[in-house]
Amino acid sequence: MKLALFSSQKYEQPFFEKSLAALNSNNITISYFEQPLNATTAPLCQGFDSVCVFVNDTVDDTVINTLAEYGVSSILLRCAGFNNVDLNAAKAHNIKVCRVPAYSPEAVAEHCIALMLTLNRKTHKAFNRVREGNFDLNGLLGFNLFEKTIGIIGCGKIGQALVNILNGFGANVLVFDPYAQAGCYTLCDLDTLLSQSDIISLHCPLNEQTHHLIDDSALAKMKPGVMLINTSRGALLDSKACINALKTKKLGYLGLDVYEQESELFFKDHRDEIMQDDVFSRLVSFPNVLVTGHQGFFTQEALSEIAQTTLQNAHEVAHQLPLSNEVK
Ligand code: NAI
Repeated sequence: MKLALFSSQKYEQPFFEKSLAALNSNNITISYFEQPLNATTAPLCQGFDSVCVFVNDTVDDTVINTLAEYGVSSILLRCAGFNNVDLNAAKAHNIKVCRVPAYSPEAVAEHCIALMLTLNRKTHKAFNRVREGNFDLNGLLGFNLFEKTIGIIGCGKIGQALVNILNGFGANVLVFDPYAQAGCYTLCDLDTLLSQSDIISLHCPLNEQTHHLIDDSALAKMKPGVMLINTSRGALLDSKACINALKTKKLGYLGLDVYEQESELFFKDHRDEIMQDDVFSRLVSFPNVLVTGHQGFFTQEALSEIAQTTLQNAHEVAHQLPLSNEVK
């Protein structure tokens, strides 16, 4: 199997090479392309059997038609979310789609906590102050997580990992998830969660029902000064509505690891360029907004698991074995 791996980053290649050696398969060869897969780069797939893509590759029907023309028989996502793949188009061309359903829910949950604690206790500001000999505490006041109400929207693998950590803090955890079972949290409806939570964290998938789940109307239901964290998918939030809520101080803190237009920005160094995205520029201008560039998954354990599962998926496709992680 000749595998074309798109949006390749230097940091992931050693994990793929190590997993390939461990798989002990002479049948798989990997070509790494730094470019994302999209309609412009799809011609690079000629001569390959499979493509491996990440969160910001565009695998729409145009790209899938090109893949089918070249005889590409599988799309291997090295992530959990698959909102960027047109599954109907893939099915129509009998192209298999596999993903890595869970590589480290704890990695993302722990990153959520990093965002919450940084926004709350302002350790990023303290770091700079102390280095400059400024030990003034004004402006660094935080609050205890103990006994605060924290609302989790979507309690799957990552949401559950976050619940486990938050229970350790002694927080009251509310969960809204239409499919969740009872657990170490209080299940409630969305409006109750929005109106009662001091911190709200999003962990549901992006789909038609959840697109702009957090809009003007949802923000209006929240407590004044609420903290909102999104490590799931950018388009769960209406960014412009969040900017308005930050300006009126309805939103007291905003922590983002994902952004609706992130494919133009994230995973690349834009230091020498002029920022063209005015919404993003406005967001990062607020002192109570913290943005990280989709690094929730970025731990050694997760990268190792991503490489192993992706290559196991490739192995199953190559040998026409039952597919453990097929997305249909
Ligand atoms: P999961 O599939 O285990 O859990 C998603 C949960 O959301 C399920 O329990 C489901 O019942 C629930 N859900 C579905 N529709 C809902 C709705 N309308 N309202 C509320 N809940 C709803 O997925 P997992 O692994 O926990 O990942 C969650 C999301 O995190 C993924 O969809 C992905 O977008 C994102 N993610 C972000 C990463 C990062 O690096 N920042 C890394 C990995 C995933």
